[in-house]
Amino acid sequence: MLPAPGHDMRTRLDVVAHLNRFLATNVLPAVSRDWEQEACPAFKAANGREPASLKEARDLMENRSSHLGWGLLRRTVMEYRQQVGRQLALSEAVALRDRAQRLNRGRETLKLNPALPIPRHVSAVDTHLMPGGYAAEYQSDDVTNPASYDAGLFATIGGGAGPLNDAAGRALVGWMRGAVPEFRPHMVVDLACGLGHNTLPLRQAFPEARIVALDVAAPFLRYGHARAVSLGVEDVEFWQEDATATSLPDGCADLVFTTMVLHETSAKVLPAILRECHRLLMPGGITIHLEQPPYRQFAPLQQFLRDWDGRHNNEPYWTALHQTNLPQLLEEAGFEPGSTFETTCRAGSVTSRQPEDPGRAPVWYAVGARK
Ligand SMILES: C[S@@+](CC[C@H](N)C(=O)[O-])C[C@H]1O[C@@H](n2cnc3c(N)ncnc32)[C@H](O)[C@@H]1O
Repeated sequence: MLPAPGHDMRTRLDVVAHLNRFLATNVLPAVSRDWEQEACPAFKAANGREPASLKEARDLMENRSSHLGWGLLRRTVMEYRQQVGRQLALSEAVALRDRAQRLNRGRETLKLNPALPIPRHVSAVDTHLMPGGYAAEYQSDDVTNPASYDAGLFATIGGGAGPLNDAAGRALVGWMRGAVPEFRPHMVVDLACGLGHNTLPLRQAFPEARIVALDVAAPFLRYGHARAVSLGVEDVEFWQEDATATSLPDGCADLVFTTMVLHETSAKVLPAILRECHRLLMPGGITIHLEQPPYRQFAPLQQFLRDWDGRHNNEPYWTALHQTNLPQLLEEAGFEPGSTFETTCRAGSVTSRQPEDPGRAPVWYAVGARK
C-alpha cells in the first residue's frame, strides 16, 4: 500500500532521515555539553546543589541558545516531515484510495462504523503535527493520512523500526518468547492499532490465534486492512471501535495490548482503556503496553530532553503520561496488587551504539499485568 515516491520525493524523505540523525549525533551533544560545562555549574553555584527535577531542568535550559537551536531545528524537521509525507500522499490520494478499495472489497475482516463518535482527544488534536489528526478524511474512503504516516514514520526514525515499521510488534513477540514462553494466546486484541504496523508480527508469531485490531480512525483501518491483505495477511480483523468501550464480551481475550497509544490519551481516557483491558481478559490473560520509559528512570536533563515532544511536537498528553505511575493505574483498573510488571521490549535489530534521537529508539518500556 505504501505510496511510491519518485526521485525528488525520495530525496526529501532521505533529508528528513539524515537531518534527524544529524541532530541526534551532532547537535544534541552540544546541549549536554552546555548543561555540564555552564548551566549546571551556574545553578550549583547559586543553589549549592544540582537541578533535581524536570521543572528545574526546564527552567534552567529552555531559553538557552543550545536548546533553542536544537529545538528549532528539530521542530522544523518535524514540520518538514509532515509536509513531505502529505505532499506524497496527496499526490497519489486517488490511486491509493482505489487500491485500498480493491484490496478491501467484499472482505468481512474490515468493519467500519461511520456512526462512531470520534473522541475529542483524537478529533481535536493534530497529533505530532499531522494535519487533521488520525481521523481526517479528504475524500470518500480516504487513506491519505495513514499513507503519509507510513512513509513519514519510516523516514523520521531512519528505518529504525525495520522495512515494515513493525519493531514494536516484533519486540512484544520477542518479550513473550523470553518471559512467558509457555503462553500462546488464542484471542488477541490490539487496542488502538493505527494502521496495524505492530499487529501483524503477532499474526506471524501466533498463527492459531484470532486477532482483532481496533481503532477509532477509519482511514487508518482502511489502509491497515488493505496493507495487511497486500502483505498476504487476510485474517486479522480491523474494527472501528473505541478502545474504552468495545463490543467484545467480558473475558474473551488472553492477550490485550497497545503500542505507543497511552501517551496519546487524556487523563480520562487512559484509565478507561486500562479498565477495558481488565474487562476483556480471561483469568490468566496478559495485558501489556509498550511506551517510551517513564521520566522517573532518568536524570533531570534527560527528562527535559525527552519532554520535548510534549511541549513542541503537538503531543499534549505526553508529559503527563511519562509522569504517571502506570502499575498503580493498572491496579486501580482492577488488576490484583502484585500482578503488575514493568519490563523492556527490544526488537532483534536494535544496537546500543547509535546515539538516541530522544524518544525514538526502537526499544520500549512496557507495563502490564496478568489477570
Ligand atoms: C500513535 S498511534 C499508534 C498506532 C499503533 N498502535 C502502532 O503501534 O502503530 C495511536 C492510535 O490510537 C488511536 N486511538 C486513540 N484513542 C483511541 C481510542 N479511544 N480508541 C481507539 N483508538 C484510539 C488513534 O486513532 C491512533 O491510530
